[in-house]
Amino acid sequence: MSKIGLISDVHSNWDALSVALDKLKSEENVDELFLSGDLIGYGPDPNKCVDAIREASAVAVKGNHDAGLVGDLEIGFFNQWGIDAINWTRDNIADPNFNFIADMPETRFFSDKRISLLHGSSVAPLTKYILRKVDAYNSYQAREEDFFLQVYGHTHLPALYEIEDDDVNEHRMFSPEEFEFNRDNHYLVNPGSVGQPRDGNWKTSFAVLELDDNETPRKVKFFREEYPAEKVRQKIIDEGLPKELGDRLLEGR
Ligand SMILES: [Fe+2]
Repeated sequence: MSKIGLISDVHSNWDALSVALDKLKSEENVDELFLSGDLIGYGPDPNKCVDAIREASAVAVKGNHDAGLVGDLEIGFFNQWGIDAINWTRDNIADPNFNFIADMPETRFFSDKRISLLHGSSVAPLTKYILRKVDAYNSYQAREEDFFLQVYGHTHLPALYEIEDDDVNEHRMFSPEEFEFNRDNHYLVNPGSVGQPRDGNWKTSFAVLELDDNETPRKVKFFREEYPAEKVRQKIIDEGLPKELGDRLLEGR
């Protein structure tokens, strides 16, 4: 049996990431960390966040903000807050951390290709959102490899979709609940956003995936933890980033 910590959409929020990592490493004793994109953007601490992900040897893929930073995605894709934050990040990120982000692939596969890791959807790994059952179904249909489980992010909403023959079930049972996978079906899991949750709950969001001895995913458990969001809001303002990016952290929107 092994355990993988699932994190996504950190968005340079070090105070949230440190709480999540502490829980995953010290209490959950995860063996590995998967990051499904958007390590930077919006928040005030890109270097601390990239340093921590590098030190943890996390397995990471690019999100749209990571791609925007390094020039893989046109800046016109983003709204003004996103553009301001990407430009600020480019001025403030250390070269080795920029290079680490530039080197992150868009899609990765594990456990004999039974697990797929990407930011958006198989339809378009950097940009397409999985917001509804039909999006989950399309991502499964567009898959490159016949995955059992796809781990994704991008929406900043924790989610669990189950593909059962041609039907899609959406499971809503988050934090601190766990879900056991059925071997006959296929799944898409979003651990939610570490650094900018948007489901109306301001607490940092992440998950733990348990694999059996054959490296087959067995179950997933979702977590929400408090972190000093007001402190991060103040840092955002002090750095001259758009104030709204701080305000939204307090509401989880
Ligand atoms: Fe994001």
